[in-house]
Amino acid sequence: MEEISAIEDDGLISPEIGSWGEEKYRHVALYSSLFAKSMRRKWECLVYIDLFSGAGRARIRGTNRIVNSSPLLVLGLPDKFDRYIFCEKERKKYEALKKRIKREFPDADSHYVEGDANQRFDEILAKMPDFRKSFRVLAFCFADPYALSNLKFETIRQLSARYMDFLVLIPSGMEANRFVTKYTKVLNSPVDLFLGSSEWRAAWREAQKNKTPFEQFIVKEFGKSMESLGYIDSGLDLAVPIRSDDRNLLLYRLALYSRHELGKEFWKQAKKYSKAQTELF
Ligand SMILES: C[S@@+](CC[C@H](N)C(=O)[O-])C[C@H]1O[C@@H](n2cnc3c(N)ncnc32)[C@H](O)[C@@H]1O
Repeated sequence: MEEISAIEDDGLISPEIGSWGEEKYRHVALYSSLFAKSMRRKWECLVYIDLFSGAGRARIRGTNRIVNSSPLLVLGLPDKFDRYIFCEKERKKYEALKKRIKREFPDADSHYVEGDANQRFDEILAKMPDFRKSFRVLAFCFADPYALSNLKFETIRQLSARYMDFLVLIPSGMEANRFVTKYTKVLNSPVDLFLGSSEWRAAWREAQKNKTPFEQFIVKEFGKSMESLGYIDSGLDLAVPIRSDDRNLLLYRLALYSRHELGKEFWKQAKKYSKAQTELF
């Protein structure tokens, strides 16, 4: 796959992102490619779900560089999904995304849900084709929240009733480090809702004794929550750390959850290819 190319401004909203966002996009595109190429032979229908879709394009902060973001990048891959489902809460981004997809991928089987993914998961599920013995449906869901509070584990639990892999951006280093003391004291804090349980406090007290940073703790705990749904926890080592360019701060981790070992293998490959691309350019 080629490096993400810059595109012309089309006048629609293109939210600003840090340059490190491109590393995230490379991983999503590489994993989607491997997933679609290989699963095509085994399943009758492949679905891509972008839970936090954005506007379809983003502008790299401090530059005029505009790039396709996750929805348009995945739509543009040579290995196609049979159906694409996009959810976005902000009206302006939602409208821009629809216009761009209609203009650039008029033939793709694209479906849209406007609103909060945590409230609209039923609608998202309803847009997936029904599973039959002779028509088996497999989904790949990218969850790319800004903050812990944007994603509730209950949403993942509901979606996981279907055959689905998840690539989750865990905003582990952002608010988590700043607010952990506050979150330990508040019931139903963003951490409780993100992990789907309030049991983490006792484990956090233990982790502190071992000087485990909260950033690592939350990735491990999220892995345990995914295990409770039958997913393989690939562990901290395979959760790709994304750092800011300017101060080298760890911002978030990208972690892949599949119920099959093959998913983990694809993720390892995506990690490797992404690194090779960075070194090439
Ligand atoms: C980090 S951006 C990701 C955008 C996109 N994945 C990309 O590649 O640029 C998060 C997006 O999710 C939207 N959002 C935040 N909370 C949401 C929610 N609960 N449900 C749906 N969308 C949400 C925001 O408006 C924003 O566009």
